[in-house]
Amino acid sequence: MEGWKGDFVVLGIETSCDDTAAAVVESSGRILGESKRTQDQIHAAWGGVVPGLARDAHASAIEEVVKEALEKANVTEDQLDAVAVTMGPGLEICLRVGFHQARDIALNFSKTFVSIHHLEAHVLMVRQADQNVKFPFLVLLVSGGHCQILVARGVGDYLMLGGTLDDSLGEAYDKSARMLGLDVGGGGGAALEALAEKGNPKAIKFGVPMAKRKDCHFSFAGLKTAVRLAIQNAGGDLTNPLNDAQAAADIAASFQHVAIRHLEDRIERAMKLCKEEMGMSDLKHLVVCGGVAANKLRVTTSLQCSPQLGSAQACRFHEWLVPLNPSTDNGVMVAWAAVERLRLGVCEDPTELEVKHVVLSCAHVDVHHRLGPVGL
Ligand code: KG4
Ligand code: ZN
Repeated sequence: MEGWKGDFVVLGIETSCDDTAAAVVESSGRILGESKRTQDQIHAAWGGVVPGLARDAHASAIEEVVKEALEKANVTEDQLDAVAVTMGPGLEICLRVGFHQARDIALNFSKTFVSIHHLEAHVLMVRQADQNVKFPFLVLLVSGGHCQILVARGVGDYLMLGGTLDDSLGEAYDKSARMLGLDVGGGGGAALEALAEKGNPKAIKFGVPMAKRKDCHFSFAGLKTAVRLAIQNAGGDLTNPLNDAQAAADIAASFQHVAIRHLEDRIERAMKLCKEEMGMSDLKHLVVCGGVAANKLRVTTSLQCSPQLGSAQACRFHEWLVPLNPSTDNGVMVAWAAVERLRLGVCEDPTELEVKHVVLSCAHVDVHHRLGPVGL
């Protein structure tokens, strides 16, 4: 298919985890209407997302969410040019709810169908907010399911520099929030961030993970254990959360401080790798995306990273870009990723697809090999 030009309108649907979301977006990037139901309250009592409950909640919300997005946009299904949906990665039974809804609309109204990779949707979202962000750019993707550093070379073309060896940062936030006995009904990350604002980030000296490793990988399991031990030392445990509010706030602030230091450390290594080892002098932006990017601490990080990067003109990494729309899962990112794909002429026949089939075209760099062994 020829790449689409001119103006067109896309409906995007997202049900990969615990948010049922839809949005109608113009190819200019203008959001015409969006709608979302979160499930935080449903899963709060269970210590994590329960797939069966998530699927049921998606199934009961999906029609209404799509209808609301269309109504807000003042657009009927007939007036759409394309329908897009997240096909993976995510919980298969949840993805299927969104897929079937999108497929039905595409087939019933004879619309073009686009399947979307969830991580690519997070990454590309920055260009919906600012279309001056050109490829290639460096990406820190920090969500509930992933923690990765990538070079985005183009739509569907990514180079992976590092990933997590165990937990994602979002997971570490969520688990730490639970261990601290916080109300996670509005999301563990946001709850922990709010508590951390009342604490001293230097109160507890958690070690920065993998400080001696010269690669771009992450690890948060050790930090999570350190948080558990700090809670025990302060007199709390899993069944009896801390009574001492200041101690809890100090633990939250110290956790967050070190978690962000770990990110900074890895980003600096990635920047050096790109510039010095891989000769990528055309990388102009660092884009931080995924749910954890909602955290306010990002600005400090960029300021700490930039001075070490040499010529600021040649390499404007200090522009620490976070998509303006909420960085947590939403329908806009799906619709926008479809705009990007349709401009390249990429679409699919939904009758030939199943949710497992989506893969991100992603080359891996053996960063460890390039940078030398552990401990250097
Ligand atoms: O991208 P996302 O909405 O879903 C996935 O694709 O995983 O990310 C959700 C993650 C959760 O772990 C949540 O705790 C975290 O993003 N998060 C935050 C904040 N808001 C959401 N983490 C830190 N600070 C926040 N303000
Ligand atoms: Zn996500």
